[in-house]
Amino acid sequence: MIIKSAEFIKSSTKLVQCPEDNLPEYAFLGRSNVGKSSLINMLTGRSKLAKTSATPGKTQTINHFILNKSWYIADLPGYGYAKVSKKIREDWQKMIENYILNRKNLMTLFLLIDSRHEPIESDIDFMNFLGIKYVPFARVFTKADKMKKQALEGIIEKHNNRLLENWEELPPLIVTSAEDKRGRDELLTYIEKSLDYFEKP
Ligand code: GTP
Ligand code: MG
Repeated sequence: MIIKSAEFIKSSTKLVQCPEDNLPEYAFLGRSNVGKSSLINMLTGRSKLAKTSATPGKTQTINHFILNKSWYIADLPGYGYAKVSKKIREDWQKMIENYILNRKNLMTLFLLIDSRHEPIESDIDFMNFLGIKYVPFARVFTKADKMKKQALEGIIEKHNNRLLENWEELPPLIVTSAEDKRGRDELLTYIEKSLDYFEKP
């Protein structure tokens, strides 16, 4: 898919503030600093569209972007970020959960995982939650440029093996890097293939 246009629409702190659900939507979620905003910039080819930061906790609202005037990307705040107060963390979690379970136009939730990290229990718990709730999701490994090929393969195997303890089938996996742009075509093709299945809520 060729990205002809990418525009910021709005920031929302609640589901009710999100744009009308009349277009298919793809959300990017994962721990703080995993590279959600950077990946969105890489996908759209607009390096400053989503704000990125070396300090975790940069994105604090649900940010909507419209691509090719026909589908949405939602950049979500990172979860599991320890440095904000417990109250804020709980509020974010509630907001994200409410968004995931009730956003009717959500086609796929992309769960971002840092390629350098071994499986983290909170990510595993979260995937189990998505499975129970029938939320369609795919795993996206980020920052693959920071890993040598063999080490990356080893990490992927660990992640898969961990999931196979609870899952019979593995959720899709796409390896990406905002730095060297790997995974861009695969991710865009993944999105493009599912666009046709969208039904207006
Ligand atoms: P929050 O909004 O704080 O939850 O973070 P985020 O998940 O949106 O992460 P963000 O895109 O802001 O990136 C965090 C840091 O990781 C920044 O310093 C990025 O430059 C860096 N980063 C993101 N993606 C990559 C990548 O693919 N390769 C490398 N080497 N660095 C990356
Ligand atoms: Mg961000």
